[in-house]
Amino acid sequence: MRKYVKYSTDELMECVDVFNVSAETQQKIRSLLESEKKAPDAGNFFKYYNDKSKVVKFEETIKNKMGIEHVLAVNSGTSALIAAMVAAGIGPGDEVIIPAYTFFASASAVVVARAIPVITEVDETLTLDPAAIEKNITKKTKAILPVHMLGLPSKMDEIRAIAAKYKLKVIEDTAQAFGGKYKGKYLGTIGDIGCVSLDAYKVIGTGEGGLVMTNDEWAYTRAQSWHDAAACWRPDRYAKERKTGELFCGENYRMPELCAAVGIAQLKKLDWINDCTRSVWKQLRAEIKLPSCAKFVEANDEDGVCGYTLGILFETTEQAVKAIEAKIGLGGLAAKDTKGVRDWHVYWNWEHILEQKSATSEGCPFKCQHVGKAQKYSVDMCPKTKDIMRRLATIGISPAQDEEWASEMASKITKELNKLF
Ligand SMILES: Cc1ncc(COP(=O)(O)O)c(C=O)c1O
Repeated sequence: MRKYVKYSTDELMECVDVFNVSAETQQKIRSLLESEKKAPDAGNFFKYYNDKSKVVKFEETIKNKMGIEHVLAVNSGTSALIAAMVAAGIGPGDEVIIPAYTFFASASAVVVARAIPVITEVDETLTLDPAAIEKNITKKTKAILPVHMLGLPSKMDEIRAIAAKYKLKVIEDTAQAFGGKYKGKYLGTIGDIGCVSLDAYKVIGTGEGGLVMTNDEWAYTRAQSWHDAAACWRPDRYAKERKTGELFCGENYRMPELCAAVGIAQLKKLDWINDCTRSVWKQLRAEIKLPSCAKFVEANDEDGVCGYTLGILFETTEQAVKAIEAKIGLGGLAAKDTKGVRDWHVYWNWEHILEQKSATSEGCPFKCQHVGKAQKYSVDMCPKTKDIMRRLATIGISPAQDEEWASEMASKITKELNKLF
C-alpha cells in the first residue's frame, strides 16, 4: 500500500494562506496542525455522510436566527435565485416581474430558468413601485421578485397584497440586504422564498455563497433537488417517499464545507454589522443639512435598513454629477455617462437582456414557443427609474465608521454641498 492522506498539512496550509497572515503565524498554525494526530487527514469536505457538516450547522443556525423552517446553503446568490425559480415551478413561457434597478443576476436567473423577466419601474425608495407592478401583470405572470437594493427594504406589504390578489409567488432577492428587516421581520423571510448572496462584497461573506430560505416544504424539496443532482438519493431523502415533481435532473450548486465554516463565524457579527451601519446611516441623515435642490432617499422601513449606503436625490442629473465630481465623499455611477465602467445595476446597461441574447441560436427563452406576447425591451422603457437613478448620489458606510466619523463627514458634506449649490 502507498502512504496517502486526503488533506495533508501542506494542503491545509494553502487554505490558511487565503487569510494573508504573516509567515510567523503560518508557522504557528502549521505546528498546531502537525501536533494534532488527526489533522493531516482532517475532515470530510462534503455536506453529506458527515456528522459534523459545517453546511448543515450553518443552515441550522440561520433557521434558528431567522425563524424560518427551511434554509438551503448554495454556492452563490445567483444559484439561490435560479433554485428559487425552479422551486416555485417557474419555467418556459412564464413571466417574472423584476425591478429596473438591480444587479442583472436577478434578470439572468429568470432567463436561466427559461422564463421571461419583465423589467418594471422602481420609485424614489429605489425599490419596486407597486403601481408599476400591477400595470405589468399579464396572464403569464408567475412571480414578483422584489430586490432590497443597497440594504433598503422593498414595500413588502403592498407587494404581498398584489401577489395575493393575482395568485403570484413572491421571491425576495435579499442579496444586498441580509439581516435587514421590514416591520420587524427579516428580509428574505417575508415572501414565499428568500434568496441571499454571500459573495465577497455582501453584508457578510463566505467568499462565494448563497442561501435559499422558505417556510414552504415543497419549495425547499424542489430547490434541494435542483441544487444537488443527487438530492433524491441523499440519506435524509431516500428513505422517504418521493413525490411526483421531486425527481428531475438538477445542477450542482452545493455550498462547500470551507465556505460554510467561514459563514458560521461571519454570522455571529451579522447583527452587529447592520446595527453599526444603520446607526451611522441615521446619524448622517440627521446631521447633514442638504441644500434645497437635494433630499435623502426615503426608506420603506428606517429601522430595518442595513445602512451601508445613504442615498441623496438631486433635482437634476447635472447637480448629482457636480456633487459626485467634487470628490467630497459622494459616489454614484448611474448619474454619469461612464465609458468602460458602467453601472451594471441599472437596466439600460443590461445589453444581453435588452438585446435578448441567448447561449444558443434558437433564441430561447425569449423566442420560445411558449412565450406569449414578445417582450419589447429598450434603454428607455423605464423612464421613471432612469430619471431617479441619474439623479442619485450615494455615501458608502462601513461598520468601521463610528459616531465621530459620521459627525465629521456630516459637517464636511454640509459645508461642501452648500458651497456647490
Ligand atoms: C441584487 C443582487 N442579486 C443577485 C446577486 C448575485 O449574487 P452572487 O454574486 O452571489 O451570485 C447580486 C450580487 O451582486 C446582487 O447584488
